[in-house]
Amino acid sequence: MRTETGQVFKLKDYRPTDFVVERIDLTFELDPTQTRVVSRISLQRRDGVAADAELVFDGDELSLEGLQLDGRDIDPALYTATPDTLTIRELPASVPFEITVTTVISPQTNTQLMGLYRTNGVYCTQCEAQGFRRITYFYDRPDVLAVYSVTIIARKSETRYLLSNGNLVSSGSLDEGRHCATWFDPHPKPSYLFALVGGDLGLIEDSFTTMSGREVALKIYVEHGKENRAGYAMDALKRSMKWDEEVYGLEYDLDIFQIVAVSDFNMGAMENKGLNVFNDKYVLADPETATDADYANIEAIIAHEYFHNWTGNRITCRDWFQLCLKEGLTVYRDHTFSADQRSAPVKRIAEIRLLKAHQFPEDAGPLAHPVRPETYREINNFYTATVYEKGSEVVRMIRTILGAEDFRKGMDLYFERHDGDAATIEDFLACFAEASGRDLRQFALWYSQAGTPSVSVSTDWNEAGHTFKVTLEQSLAATPGQPRKALMHIPLAYGLILPDGSEFAGQPSGNDAENGVFHLTRRKQSFTFTGVPERPVLSINRGFSAPVTIAMEQSAADLAHIARHDSDGVARWQALNEQATRYLVEASKLCRDGRNLPSAQKLAEILVATASDESLEPAFRAQALALPAESDIAREIGSNIDPDSIHAARNAVLSEVARFGADVFARLAGAAPEGAYSPSAEDAGKRALAGAALAYAAIADGGPGRAMAAFDAADNMTVLSQALQVLTQSFPAAAETADALTAFRTRFSGDPLALDKWYAIQAMMPGKTTWRRVEELLDSPDFDRSNPNRVRSLIGGFSAGNPTGFNVASGDGYRLLAREVIDIDKRNPQLAARLLTAMRSWRSLEAGRQEQARLALVSIREAANLSPDVSDIVDRMLD
Ligand code: ARG
Ligand code: ZN
Repeated sequence: MRTETGQVFKLKDYRPTDFVVERIDLTFELDPTQTRVVSRISLQRRDGVAADAELVFDGDELSLEGLQLDGRDIDPALYTATPDTLTIRELPASVPFEITVTTVISPQTNTQLMGLYRTNGVYCTQCEAQGFRRITYFYDRPDVLAVYSVTIIARKSETRYLLSNGNLVSSGSLDEGRHCATWFDPHPKPSYLFALVGGDLGLIEDSFTTMSGREVALKIYVEHGKENRAGYAMDALKRSMKWDEEVYGLEYDLDIFQIVAVSDFNMGAMENKGLNVFNDKYVLADPETATDADYANIEAIIAHEYFHNWTGNRITCRDWFQLCLKEGLTVYRDHTFSADQRSAPVKRIAEIRLLKAHQFPEDAGPLAHPVRPETYREINNFYTATVYEKGSEVVRMIRTILGAEDFRKGMDLYFERHDGDAATIEDFLACFAEASGRDLRQFALWYSQAGTPSVSVSTDWNEAGHTFKVTLEQSLAATPGQPRKALMHIPLAYGLILPDGSEFAGQPSGNDAENGVFHLTRRKQSFTFTGVPERPVLSINRGFSAPVTIAMEQSAADLAHIARHDSDGVARWQALNEQATRYLVEASKLCRDGRNLPSAQKLAEILVATASDESLEPAFRAQALALPAESDIAREIGSNIDPDSIHAARNAVLSEVARFGADVFARLAGAAPEGAYSPSAEDAGKRALAGAALAYAAIADGGPGRAMAAFDAADNMTVLSQALQVLTQSFPAAAETADALTAFRTRFSGDPLALDKWYAIQAMMPGKTTWRRVEELLDSPDFDRSNPNRVRSLIGGFSAGNPTGFNVASGDGYRLLAREVIDIDKRNPQLAARLLTAMRSWRSLEAGRQEQARLALVSIREAANLSPDVSDIVDRMLD
């Protein structure tokens, strides 16, 4: 049974449990459909709790097989067990006692992939956020920290390895071909960090010596035959361990660290103490099947989960409202790690793109919620871009406001004060306030107010007086449940760039600016610089110091000046991107009205000049060449959107740039890094530039020949998939494109992760008939609706990555998604709810599409037996 639809959980209702758990000893007898779980829990009534208070444990689709108090069966009159709760009455008032709970569960038929389930024959668990209650009755909440000991018994033939958290204490053989293993984790932890794996897997091993000289065994388990694809993940793990020691002084705390890669997983990965479980997409890579982007994701996610050991596990969350305490902070940590491993500006540009593409629309639509929500119906729906990505931006702003040194002091204080705690955002902020002596109360609004603030900027140059005045004004639109907003503390990094490209070093009047940052805390503030020799150009929100939108009348010439001279690479890209966005927004509107487009010559000149500027790193040049996506343009337009005219306008610009830079692109498209494939950031950057250039060169050619030749010559997946994307995006109807798709399909038929790309690339082909192709693919023999990666590639790729195809005016795209969401929801509500979020911006479409989208949403809302996950999303979207 599931939690009642409509039940709302509130932050302000938090209260601790009546009983305190000290230890939990679990015994699993693994069986596909009859796994027996015996849980012995030592408890004690909390001081001050009434002697007649009942013990209430959580469950989810459970049935109770046995219940004892201190080893003796409990009288059935003294307890009540339903599938989702176990209530026990008349428990000892003052002495510690032990409750033994026995349940029998069926991993084989657990299609939700929450709790204990099977994937390709492997037993594995996912307990965050509330999966443990699908295994046994317990206080399944993050503020209940206990020491776990876990014994696993299973048939040897199907479970070569039996794994759980912590250190292995014993293992041995049993009768009837069975074996067993016992694991002990000395670190008290909440149930969501529990993990168990049993399976016949391949293993790669390594070790790491910590800064204090302890040896840690590192093990990565993968499906047999894939061992040689786990090397990069292992390397990333070692670099992560080292980085956390060097940057934060944080050392690993067990003798063993294990990662298991599984092929059916709802999310990216999970930071279970000492036993991370990963979606295999974020572990497995070799040059033939993984792209450079896959390698970068593996590096980031391996780091992310490892970093959780301190930010998440050693210090966990008091309740799920505090999810950003661990996620926002850990994303911030993995971002800075990747920036250190790769090119910092290029990494930052990718982050900005991602934030704007995923978080800004969330914040602007019906699913908007604060970084720390105050209510939820289904917590799984809050693993969002807002909690993760905006949560990370908030931590980054703390660092900007405090400076590196005080930020580190605050982090040190946080680890020192809260190690072993289930903490809150208030606890976290207090550490930075104390370490720096700053008042962060206004800043804390970033955690409670949803929506993307907007800052309008105006400047005033006084030629005679040599003064330059910058005026900033903030606003924040209403979001669901928050009609009125308070003024925020917005830190905006800036620079004043003089005509010769140098930067003006003087400080503005007043004390609201320091170290190149304006602190906007009131509705409207002005900053006056004096003694400015010549009219400067303002570079504002440099490096995206605050996740806001900027409204400023800045001439194309000024943007070009920033793009050429800003000392900050990210700001140079921002200026380029701003210029391209403006042009594309304007062109889309003209296209819609059937008017001619103005020349994109200026834009083409600057893009081509950047592309061919050898003084810049290739990865940066590739970023510069990537025009704002159709979804970016739509977001900027904001309302009454017609995806077709955006597509047409963007294509027209692509063509003009391609024609203008044809020679440059032809040359760059042929360049490749020397020697054998290396996933290094440097080589990846060269391939990214060549790939971006190939796309333009192919457009300039007007035919698929060059892309097809690149496809045929490719000796790694990065180049192969780049070529296939050029073919499918620019020449969808060409015979060559069909041939390339067939060749790809044949070559990778035995490789699920590579085949996922084949599905995704086709799902994203633009046009009015793609929904038909998607329908055919849904019926193809290897389209497995129970595999989340496959579903996300095809259905997610189509609905979230194909503006013209999904938003076809007939509404066929929406109907397709609605049907699939209803169907998938029966087996995997989390996956279904996630897919549905692709429609979150439906109200910004033009009227006809809006109506089609509404009808599709209503059809979902009216479907029988919707999960709380999907009904929560659909209700919020229709509200
Ligand atoms: N904590 C995981 C991470 O590292 C995410 C797990 C979320 N799982 C879920 N079923 N909601 O980001
Ligand atoms: Zn995380």
